[in-house]
Parts: sequence; structure tokens; C-alpha cells
Amino acid sequence: MDAHTHILQYLRWIHFMAGITWIGLLYFFNVVNGHFQAALDADTRTKVVPELMPRALWWFRWGAMVTLISGLLYIFWSKWITTWGQPGMGGFFGSQGLWSSSWGGWITLGSSFGIIMWFNVWFIIWPAQKKIITWTKAGQSPPERAKLASRATKTSRVNTYLSVPLLFAMGGASHFATFGWLSAILVVLVGFIIVWVFVSVAKNVGTKV
Ligand code: HEM
Repeated sequence: MDAHTHILQYLRWIHFMAGITWIGLLYFFNVVNGHFQAALDADTRTKVVPELMPRALWWFRWGAMVTLISGLLYIFWSKWITTWGQPGMGGFFGSQGLWSSSWGGWITLGSSFGIIMWFNVWFIIWPAQKKIITWTKAGQSPPERAKLASRATKTSRVNTYLSVPLLFAMGGASHFATFGWLSAILVVLVGFIIVWVFVSVAKNVGTKV
């Protein structure tokens, strides 16, 4: 087995672990934590939020970072480095390049969603949450708080919608060689419906033991 195969497998391993950490917490925030926090009284929330959220958001945002870096490195390694010095083979359009296979179609779809989600985590959700946690800790509720909280929640919900088609695309790349525009659109639509159902039932699911 050559060195490239080893390197790609280690990148893939890191990628799954980080991706699971990130998306697992995203689902926790969207189907559990929002309803849980809404059920707490203000005093309890002041105690719980500063303990829970900084920890959860640390794993969340660094999970997103490691997922993105390992995924992009995988693409770069498999399509540029392994075909180094062989003109016309790798890159975007080479005979074994990114966009010459169904693999590349699914990976392009999945990674585009992943890059949007990563941006949302680092530049919208985390900056908003940082302020919200600080205010909660200090027992403050400035007027811009509600707007910021709603922005963070909506963006987190957008990421949840994008994550389900993303997962189909990631898993489909190596195991479902059917990429085409119609299949991509169908996967996105079905993914959105799945999330809509999960999010709609989440408020009442698991409330009784
Ligand atoms: C953020 C941008 C992302 C990029 C650039 C990216 C890139 C990639 C690439 C290149 C592969 C192909 C590996 C192979 O062919 O074996 C892959 C596979 C995979 N990715 Fe991602 N990915 C991203 C986000 C995610 C996220 C958020 C998850 C969530 C868990 C994820 C989970 C997976 C899984 C499970 C596979 C396995 C495919 C298989 O071999 O069955 N990826 N990803």
C-alpha cells in the first residue's frame, strides 16, 4: 500500500471524527437545547448557560474548523498531489480530476454546503453567542439581545437544513455513483423535508419518561 493511501485514510478518519463532533452538537442545539433553555427560569438560565454553552461551542466551532481543513486537504491531496507531474490527469478538469466523476459532483455539492455552514459558525453564530453568554453571565439584557439571539438561531437552523443533503453527498461520493443535477436537486429537497419533520416534532419528543 502506498503512502498516498495511508495519508488519505488518516485524513478521512480525522474528517469523520471532527464532522461527527460538529454536526452532533448542531443537532443538540437545534432539537434539544433550544427547548431545554426555554423551559428554564431566568435564575437557572444564568447558572446553566455560562457553564454549558462555552464548552459546547468550543467543540462545535473547532469541530467545524477541523472538518473543513481535513476535507479540503483530502480533495487537494487526492486530486492535485497524487497526480503531481502528470499533466492532464488531476486538478479540476483532468481525466482523474475533481469534476470528471460522480465523486467530484457529490463532493462539490457537499463541500459547498459545508463551506457555507463553516462560515455561518465562525462569522455569525459564534460571535453572536459570545455576546449572549457574556450578557447572560452579567445578568444583562440589552435591547439588541433579542435580535442577535434570533439571528444566531435562524443561522443555526439554516445549517441544520444544509447538513442533511451534505451528509447524503459525503456518503454518496464513494458509494453512490449517480451524481447529476436532477439527483442533486432531489437530495436537497428530500433532505430539507427530513429536517423540517425533525425540527417540527422536536419540541415534544422525549419529554416523557
Ligand atoms: C466542510 C466541508 C467539507 C469538505 C470540504 C468535505 C470533504 C470530503 C471529502 C473530500 C470526502 C471524500 C473522502 C473519500 O472519498 O473517501 C468526504 C467524505 C466524508 N465526509 Fe466530508 N467534507 C465536508 C464536510 C463534512 C461534514 C460536515 C461531515 C459530517 C459528519 C462530513 C462527513 C463525511 C463522511 C461521513 C464522509 C465519508 C464518505 C465515505 O467514504 O463513505 N463531511 N468529505
